[in-house]
Amino acid sequence: MLAIIGGSGLYKLDLQDRQEVEKSTPFGKPSSPILVGKLKGKKVAFLARHGLNHEYPPSFVPYRANLWALKELGVSRVLSICAVGAINQRFGVGDFVLVDDFLDFTKKREDSFYQGIHSLEVEGEDKPSMLLRQRKVVHVDMSQAYCPQMRGTLIEVFDELKLSYHPSGVYVCTEGPRFESPAEIRAIKILGGDVVGMTGYPEVALARELGMCYASLCVVANPAAGIAGYRLTSDEVISMMKGKEEEIKEILKLFIERLEEHKTCNCERALEGAEV
Ligand code: HPA
Repeated sequence: MLAIIGGSGLYKLDLQDRQEVEKSTPFGKPSSPILVGKLKGKKVAFLARHGLNHEYPPSFVPYRANLWALKELGVSRVLSICAVGAINQRFGVGDFVLVDDFLDFTKKREDSFYQGIHSLEVEGEDKPSMLLRQRKVVHVDMSQAYCPQMRGTLIEVFDELKLSYHPSGVYVCTEGPRFESPAEIRAIKILGGDVVGMTGYPEVALARELGMCYASLCVVANPAAGIAGYRLTSDEVISMMKGKEEEIKEILKLFIERLEEHKTCNCERALEGAEV
Protein backbone atom coordinates (compact mmCIF):
# COMPACT_ATOMS: atom_id res chain seq x y z
CA MET A 1 0.00 0.00 0.00
CA LEU A 2 1.03 3.62 -0.65
CA ALA A 3 0.95 6.17 2.15
CA ILE A 4 0.85 9.91 1.76
CA ILE A 5 2.32 12.04 4.51
CA GLY A 6 0.80 15.49 4.32
CA GLY A 7 2.90 18.45 5.46
CA SER A 8 2.03 22.03 6.38
CA GLY A 9 -1.36 22.99 4.96
CA LEU A 10 -2.36 19.43 4.01
CA TYR A 11 -4.13 17.75 6.91
CA LYS A 12 -6.68 15.51 5.20
CA LEU A 13 -7.43 13.75 1.97
CA ASP A 14 -10.83 12.73 0.58
CA LEU A 15 -10.69 8.96 0.39
CA GLN A 16 -13.51 6.57 -0.46
CA ASP A 17 -14.58 3.85 2.01
CA ARG A 18 -12.35 5.40 4.57
CA GLN A 19 -11.56 4.29 8.06
CA GLU A 20 -9.66 6.18 10.73
CA VAL A 21 -7.05 4.00 12.37
CA GLU A 22 -5.63 4.93 15.79
CA LYS A 23 -2.30 3.20 16.20
CA SER A 24 0.23 3.08 18.96
CA THR A 25 3.73 1.76 18.42
CA PRO A 26 6.77 0.90 20.56
CA PHE A 27 8.05 4.32 19.40
CA GLY A 28 4.99 6.19 20.62
CA LYS A 29 1.83 7.45 18.97
CA PRO A 30 1.84 8.75 15.39
CA SER A 31 1.14 12.44 14.91
CA SER A 32 -2.43 11.80 13.74
CA PRO A 33 -4.92 8.99 13.26
CA ILE A 34 -4.16 7.28 9.95
CA LEU A 35 -6.84 7.48 7.28
CA VAL A 36 -7.06 4.32 5.20
CA GLY A 37 -9.31 4.29 2.16
CA LYS A 38 -9.37 4.30 -1.60
CA LEU A 39 -8.22 6.86 -4.12
CA LYS A 40 -8.89 6.07 -7.78
CA GLY A 41 -9.82 2.55 -6.67
CA LYS A 42 -6.48 1.91 -4.98
CA LYS A 43 -5.94 1.48 -1.29
CA VAL A 44 -3.97 4.32 0.30
CA ALA A 45 -3.16 5.62 3.75
CA PHE A 46 -2.90 9.27 4.78
CA LEU A 47 -1.12 10.74 7.78
CA ALA A 48 -0.93 14.40 8.82
CA ARG A 49 2.72 14.91 9.77
CA HIS A 50 2.14 17.89 12.05
CA GLY A 51 -1.09 16.52 13.54
CA LEU A 52 -4.66 17.41 12.57
CA ASN A 53 -4.37 20.83 14.20
CA HIS A 54 -0.70 21.38 13.44
CA GLU A 55 0.29 20.70 17.02
CA TYR A 56 3.70 19.09 16.36
CA PRO A 57 6.56 21.44 15.46
CA PRO A 58 9.28 19.91 13.23
CA SER A 59 11.58 18.85 16.10
CA PHE A 60 8.74 17.04 17.90
CA VAL A 61 7.09 15.17 15.03
CA PRO A 62 7.11 11.50 16.11
CA TYR A 63 8.90 10.42 12.94
CA ARG A 64 9.69 6.90 14.15
CA ALA A 65 6.14 6.23 15.38
CA ASN A 66 4.75 7.53 12.07
CA LEU A 67 6.88 5.25 9.91
CA TRP A 68 6.50 2.24 12.19
CA ALA A 69 2.70 2.61 12.30
CA LEU A 70 2.58 2.83 8.50
CA LYS A 71 4.73 -0.30 8.20
CA GLU A 72 2.36 -2.14 10.54
CA LEU A 73 -0.56 -1.19 8.30
CA GLY A 74 1.19 -2.80 5.34
CA VAL A 75 2.59 0.38 3.76
CA SER A 76 5.58 -0.23 1.50
CA ARG A 77 5.72 3.11 -0.33
CA VAL A 78 5.60 6.61 1.14
CA LEU A 79 5.02 9.87 -0.70
CA SER A 80 5.78 12.83 1.49
CA ILE A 81 4.55 16.33 0.77
CA CYS A 82 6.83 19.10 2.02
CA ALA A 83 6.85 22.87 1.88
CA VAL A 84 10.32 24.24 1.17
CA GLY A 85 12.19 27.48 0.72
CA ALA A 86 14.14 27.81 -2.53
CA ILE A 87 17.90 28.34 -2.43
CA ASN A 88 18.55 27.49 -6.06
CA GLN A 89 17.60 30.63 -7.95
CA ARG A 90 16.20 28.62 -10.85
CA PHE A 91 13.43 27.41 -8.53
CA GLY A 92 10.43 29.73 -8.42
CA VAL A 93 7.70 30.07 -5.82
CA GLY A 94 4.96 27.54 -6.60
CA ASP A 95 7.29 25.15 -8.46
CA PHE A 96 7.42 21.47 -7.56
CA VAL A 97 10.79 19.88 -6.83
CA LEU A 98 11.44 16.14 -6.84
CA VAL A 99 14.45 16.01 -4.58
CA ASP A 100 16.94 13.21 -5.12
CA ASP A 101 19.41 13.73 -2.29
CA PHE A 102 19.63 15.43 1.09
CA LEU A 103 21.83 17.18 3.64
CA ASP A 104 20.94 16.71 7.31
CA PHE A 105 21.44 19.76 9.52
CA THR A 106 19.08 18.67 12.28
CA LYS A 107 20.34 18.52 15.86
CA LYS A 108 17.90 16.83 18.20
CA ARG A 109 15.93 14.06 16.52
CA GLU A 110 15.94 10.30 16.91
CA ASP A 111 16.90 9.28 13.41
CA SER A 112 17.26 5.51 13.60
CA PHE A 113 15.18 2.57 14.78
CA TYR A 114 18.29 0.48 15.35
CA GLN A 115 20.04 1.34 18.57
CA GLY A 116 22.06 -1.84 19.09
CA ILE A 117 22.15 -2.71 22.77
CA HIS A 118 19.63 0.05 23.43
CA SER A 119 17.13 -1.14 20.81
CA LEU A 120 13.49 -1.35 21.83
CA GLU A 121 11.94 -4.77 22.29
CA VAL A 122 9.29 -5.18 19.57
CA GLU A 123 7.01 -7.95 18.37
CA GLY A 124 6.77 -9.06 14.75
CA GLU A 125 8.43 -11.43 12.33
CA ASP A 126 9.41 -8.88 9.70
CA LYS A 127 13.09 -8.08 9.17
CA PRO A 128 13.13 -4.72 11.03
CA SER A 129 11.45 -6.28 14.09
CA MET A 130 13.94 -9.16 14.09
CA LEU A 131 16.92 -6.82 13.79
CA LEU A 132 15.60 -4.85 16.77
CA ARG A 133 15.07 -7.98 18.85
CA GLN A 134 18.59 -9.13 17.97
CA ARG A 135 19.82 -5.67 19.07
CA LYS A 136 21.69 -5.27 15.82
CA VAL A 137 23.70 -2.27 14.71
CA VAL A 138 22.47 -1.36 11.22
CA HIS A 139 23.96 1.02 8.65
CA VAL A 140 21.68 1.62 5.66
CA ASP A 141 22.95 2.90 2.33
CA MET A 142 21.78 6.36 1.27
CA SER A 143 23.17 6.38 -2.30
CA GLN A 144 19.64 6.43 -3.67
CA ALA A 145 17.52 7.53 -0.74
CA TYR A 146 14.57 8.65 -2.86
CA CYS A 147 12.84 5.90 -4.84
CA PRO A 148 13.72 6.20 -8.55
CA GLN A 149 10.53 4.42 -9.63
CA MET A 150 8.27 6.76 -7.67
CA ARG A 151 10.23 9.79 -8.91
CA GLY A 152 10.00 8.53 -12.49
CA THR A 153 6.24 8.16 -12.21
CA LEU A 154 5.92 11.63 -10.68
CA ILE A 155 7.89 13.09 -13.60
CA GLU A 156 5.43 11.47 -16.04
CA VAL A 157 2.56 12.97 -14.03
CA PHE A 158 4.09 16.47 -14.00
CA ASP A 159 4.63 16.29 -17.76
CA GLU A 160 1.09 15.12 -18.35
CA LEU A 161 -0.38 17.87 -16.17
CA LYS A 162 2.04 20.43 -17.69
CA LEU A 163 3.18 21.66 -14.28
CA SER A 164 6.30 23.65 -13.51
CA TYR A 165 8.72 21.26 -11.80
CA HIS A 166 12.37 20.38 -11.29
CA PRO A 167 13.28 16.70 -11.62
CA SER A 168 16.11 16.78 -9.06
CA GLY A 169 17.51 18.79 -6.20
CA VAL A 170 19.26 18.53 -2.85
CA TYR A 171 16.94 18.89 0.15
CA VAL A 172 18.47 20.46 3.23
CA CYS A 173 16.79 19.77 6.54
CA THR A 174 17.27 22.32 9.31
CA GLU A 175 16.13 21.90 12.91
CA GLY A 176 13.81 24.87 13.05
CA PRO A 177 11.39 25.97 14.26
CA ARG A 178 12.91 29.31 13.31
CA PHE A 179 13.65 30.06 9.67
CA GLU A 180 17.30 30.14 8.67
CA SER A 181 19.51 33.20 8.78
CA PRO A 182 20.74 34.64 5.46
CA ALA A 183 24.29 33.55 6.39
CA GLU A 184 23.07 29.99 6.97
CA ILE A 185 21.42 30.01 3.56
CA ARG A 186 24.61 31.32 1.91
CA ALA A 187 26.59 28.54 3.63
CA ILE A 188 24.06 25.87 2.66
CA LYS A 189 24.18 27.09 -0.94
CA ILE A 190 27.95 26.65 -1.04
CA LEU A 191 27.48 23.13 0.33
CA GLY A 192 25.15 22.22 -2.53
CA GLY A 193 21.63 22.67 -1.10
CA ASP A 194 18.80 23.56 -3.50
CA VAL A 195 15.80 23.70 -1.19
CA VAL A 196 15.41 23.96 2.58
CA GLY A 197 12.77 22.54 4.88
CA MET A 198 12.41 21.31 8.46
CA THR A 199 10.77 17.89 8.21
CA GLY A 200 12.22 15.83 5.35
CA TYR A 201 14.80 14.30 7.68
CA PRO A 202 14.79 11.78 9.40
CA GLU A 203 11.67 10.60 7.53
CA VAL A 204 13.66 9.64 4.45
CA ALA A 205 16.24 7.66 6.45
CA LEU A 206 13.65 5.93 8.64
CA ALA A 207 11.66 4.80 5.59
CA ARG A 208 14.85 3.32 4.17
CA GLU A 209 15.58 1.56 7.46
CA LEU A 210 12.25 -0.23 6.98
CA GLY A 211 12.94 -1.08 3.33
CA MET A 212 10.17 1.24 2.16
CA CYS A 213 10.19 3.28 -1.04
CA TYR A 214 10.16 6.98 -0.23
CA ALA A 215 9.74 10.05 -2.44
CA SER A 216 9.23 13.65 -1.55
CA LEU A 217 7.02 16.06 -3.43
CA CYS A 218 8.40 19.44 -2.43
CA VAL A 219 6.51 22.65 -3.07
CA VAL A 220 8.46 25.89 -3.14
CA ALA A 221 6.56 28.11 -0.74
CA ASN A 222 9.04 31.00 -0.54
CA PRO A 223 12.52 32.09 -1.57
CA ALA A 224 14.91 31.14 1.27
CA ALA A 225 16.00 33.73 3.84
CA GLY A 226 18.13 36.53 2.42
CA ILE A 227 17.19 35.58 -1.13
CA ALA A 228 13.63 36.75 -0.55
CA GLY A 229 14.69 40.25 0.46
CA TYR A 230 11.73 40.35 2.83
CA ARG A 231 10.64 38.87 6.15
CA LEU A 232 9.53 35.20 6.01
CA THR A 233 6.26 34.20 7.67
CA SER A 234 4.39 30.97 8.38
CA ASP A 235 1.36 32.66 6.81
CA GLU A 236 3.17 32.83 3.49
CA VAL A 237 4.10 29.12 3.65
CA ILE A 238 0.64 27.90 4.67
CA SER A 239 -1.20 30.08 2.18
CA MET A 240 1.05 28.90 -0.65
CA MET A 241 0.41 25.27 0.35
CA LYS A 242 -3.34 25.89 0.59
CA GLY A 243 -3.21 27.51 -2.85
CA LYS A 244 -1.53 24.40 -4.21
CA GLU A 245 -3.96 21.95 -2.58
CA GLU A 246 -6.04 21.28 -5.69
CA GLU A 247 -2.95 20.80 -7.86
CA ILE A 248 -1.46 18.43 -5.29
CA LYS A 249 -4.67 16.39 -5.23
CA GLU A 250 -4.64 16.15 -9.05
CA ILE A 251 -1.03 14.99 -8.90
CA LEU A 252 -1.87 12.38 -6.26
CA LYS A 253 -4.79 10.96 -8.24
CA LEU A 254 -2.80 10.60 -11.43
CA PHE A 255 0.25 9.30 -9.55
CA ILE A 256 -1.79 6.57 -7.90
CA GLU A 257 -3.24 5.58 -11.27
CA ARG A 258 0.13 5.52 -12.99
CA LEU A 259 2.32 3.91 -10.30
CA GLU A 260 2.94 0.27 -11.25
CA GLU A 261 2.22 -2.26 -8.55
CA HIS A 262 5.33 -4.17 -9.57
CA LYS A 263 8.48 -2.62 -8.09
CA THR A 264 11.43 -1.99 -10.38
CA CYS A 265 13.60 -0.32 -7.70
CA ASN A 266 15.90 -1.76 -5.04
CA CYS A 267 14.45 0.10 -2.07
CA GLU A 268 13.06 -2.99 -0.38
CA ARG A 269 16.54 -4.52 -0.38
CA ALA A 270 17.93 -1.64 1.71
CA LEU A 271 18.44 -3.88 4.74
CA GLU A 272 20.44 -6.51 2.84
CA GLY A 273 24.02 -6.41 4.10
CA ALA A 274 23.24 -3.42 6.32
CA GLU A 275 23.59 -5.12 9.71
CA VAL A 276 26.92 -5.57 11.43
N1 HPA B 1 13.05 27.25 5.55
C1 HPA B 1 12.76 26.12 6.24
N2 HPA B 1 11.62 25.47 6.09
C2 HPA B 1 10.72 25.95 5.23
C3 HPA B 1 10.95 27.12 4.48
C4 HPA B 1 12.18 27.80 4.66
O1 HPA B 1 12.47 28.83 4.02
N3 HPA B 1 9.86 27.32 3.71
C5 HPA B 1 8.99 26.30 3.98
N4 HPA B 1 9.51 25.47 4.90
